[in-house]
Amino acid sequence: MIMNTTAEHLGLDVERIRPQFPILNELVHGRPLVYFDNAASGQKPLRVIEAVDGYYRRINANVHRGVHTLSNLATEAQEAAREAVRDHINAKHAHEVVFTAGTTASLNLAAYSLGQLLLKPGDEVLITGMEHHANIVPWQLACERHGAVLKVVPVTEQGELDLAGIPGQARTDGPFTDRTKVLAISHVSNTLGTINPVKELVAEAKRHGTTTVVDGAQAVPHLSVDVQDLGCDLYAFSGHKMYAPTGIGVLYGREELLERMPPWQSGGEMIDRVTFEKTTYAKLPFKFEAGTPHIAGIVGLGEAVRWMHDAGMAAMAAQELALLEHATKELLQIDGLRIIGTAAKKVGVISFTIEGVHHYDLGTLLDQQGIAVRTGHHCTQPLMDRFGVNGTTRASFAPFNTLAEVDALVAAARRAVKLLR
Ligand code: ALA
Repeated sequence: MIMNTTAEHLGLDVERIRPQFPILNELVHGRPLVYFDNAASGQKPLRVIEAVDGYYRRINANVHRGVHTLSNLATEAQEAAREAVRDHINAKHAHEVVFTAGTTASLNLAAYSLGQLLLKPGDEVLITGMEHHANIVPWQLACERHGAVLKVVPVTEQGELDLAGIPGQARTDGPFTDRTKVLAISHVSNTLGTINPVKELVAEAKRHGTTTVVDGAQAVPHLSVDVQDLGCDLYAFSGHKMYAPTGIGVLYGREELLERMPPWQSGGEMIDRVTFEKTTYAKLPFKFEAGTPHIAGIVGLGEAVRWMHDAGMAAMAAQELALLEHATKELLQIDGLRIIGTAAKKVGVISFTIEGVHHYDLGTLLDQQGIAVRTGHHCTQPLMDRFGVNGTTRASFAPFNTLAEVDALVAAARRAVKLLR
């Protein structure tokens, strides 16, 4: 097997990391699983699986409600996980970490609540042409509710943002106007792998008095995210793309903004005092956490964060970049293959089309050979329109993947092309 020297140099031993993921022992169509669909949902290390299992076996109870021992233990485990997440993203306070059902729920909360707080008829919400539907549709709905206008930063042929290219706006003006109330932008594109210059854009947004919302779903598995350094107001992400269970996510928010934002969902746990005349709300973060939370998921997320810390973010990122580099070079040898997304700064995500081959057929044939990739529009239909394609095949890497697996993908793609053309 070809090993990666940079990742090894940084201390990542891929052969030691692989056994920590039990699912990698599975056979698919009689072949060893090659899992290249990490951007859709990541696999779980044993430590996370055991943390969730242990929660249900030993301390399962509702949180913040009982005086009994199990309820207190469950509450402690949940709040320890919140502190682990706070530390991981370098938020100032643990109560700035709001647990949600995932990035989609976080972005819906953000769009609903900021819409109520900020948007007036004629105001603008600025998004980009590479957003996931979850960072488009909630803003469309907010704009409809409040009579605001959705503006879109175009995407270049390389898959980078064309910050001076907003239709109808002078190129010298840049993307912001004095009506831009919200900037909602992905940190990393799920389809292209592009890392956007979020810190710089947030700084510019601040100069225009614009509130900033970052969709970090595809960044948190790969980058060391520091929300204070980025300077953003809100930052959304999911657990399941970063080694934690599905159904759990986070909306980080700056304390001062979260205090002013109205709640999104309402019910138990988010209240201070309820009468039929008036309800007052609980303090942060509980104002935004109506109902019984996904406690097992939160415990799993806390353990995932600790696992990532122990594995080493820089070493994992180096392995993923080595995989990306190798895959880019080798896939481009295939006749008629076009990579969609060639930005200078990317994470380990590679989307491609092959002339004369439908992505769905390719994905099916790869699956026959044990290789899991995602095919289709990746919940980014406007981006597909931008590149004039109706879908791509996407391979997305995790640090447990190897260069030999990339070679297997390339060989399998070659075989598939022979059959399909
Ligand atoms: N948003 C996930 C993806 O990119 C599901 O595949």
